[in-house]
Amino acid sequence: MDAAQIRDKINRNSVPRHIAIIMDGNGRWAEQQGEQRIFGHTTGVESVREVLMAAQEIGVDYLTLYAFSTENWNRPEWEVNALMDLLVNSISNEIESLNKNKVRLLAIGDLENLPEKCRAELMHAIDKTKHNTGVRLILALNYSSKWELTHAMKHIARDIAEKKLIAEEINDHLISSYLSTAPYPDPELLIRTSGEQRISNFLLWQIAYAELHFTETLWPDFKKAHFFQAIIDYQKRERRFGKTSDQIRPSQPA
Ligand code: IPE
Ligand code: IPE
Ligand code: MG
Repeated sequence: MDAAQIRDKINRNSVPRHIAIIMDGNGRWAEQQGEQRIFGHTTGVESVREVLMAAQEIGVDYLTLYAFSTENWNRPEWEVNALMDLLVNSISNEIESLNKNKVRLLAIGDLENLPEKCRAELMHAIDKTKHNTGVRLILALNYSSKWELTHAMKHIARDIAEKKLIAEEINDHLISSYLSTAPYPDPELLIRTSGEQRISNFLLWQIAYAELHFTETLWPDFKKAHFFQAIIDYQKRERRFGKTSDQIRPSQPA
């Protein structure tokens, strides 16, 4: 079945509004080809384009991609430098295409501590695409959930000390409003490629009720068909949010 045939099986009334992806397996993919790890990262950019187009085709509003974690600084220096160069080049090369496709670029993470060139290019692209009304592409860059939650807690503590807030006002909604994802709905679906079944410090708070989709496919091999298939699998899940099946399907006899 080709991608368009899989796409046609998607129920358009229950497409997730927000899909988050842990793009993993670039290094292993390159090694399988007898290439350097970097070749996997550069090829992975094509998968980003594919998934973005696929999201647009079925009306996903938000796509959050884990591109670089705070832990990824622990990789060898040459790989970190190559990843930063790739980010700078990909972002600047894609602005025209993002605008053509009405994609709005956004970012979450500790952006202030990105290398200056990378931060500047990112801010430029965010600015150049800010009027676009199509898919919101949110890059998680120098991101980790523990960093984000720590940052939010410090901010809340500061606001309490400055009497802008009282402790009793802290609730689920308020905490969400202090996160870098505050403007966006929580993802309904989280995809991780490469067969690893872990979250690696990604959106811990926001995925509290997300459906998780793990696939063996390595990121550079992840194409439209895989993305559509993940949505079809998602649509087969029963999202109960603590209730019973009977409550979810009231037409069925109790
Ligand atoms: C994901 O691929 C890309 C980043 C983390 C930047 P990896 O580079 O982690 O690839 P593997 O997991 O080593 O195969
Ligand atoms: C998670 O992948 C981070 C990104 C995809 C950017 P990693 O490959 O860094 O995750 P771990 O270290 O194997 O959990
Ligand atoms: Mg990995």
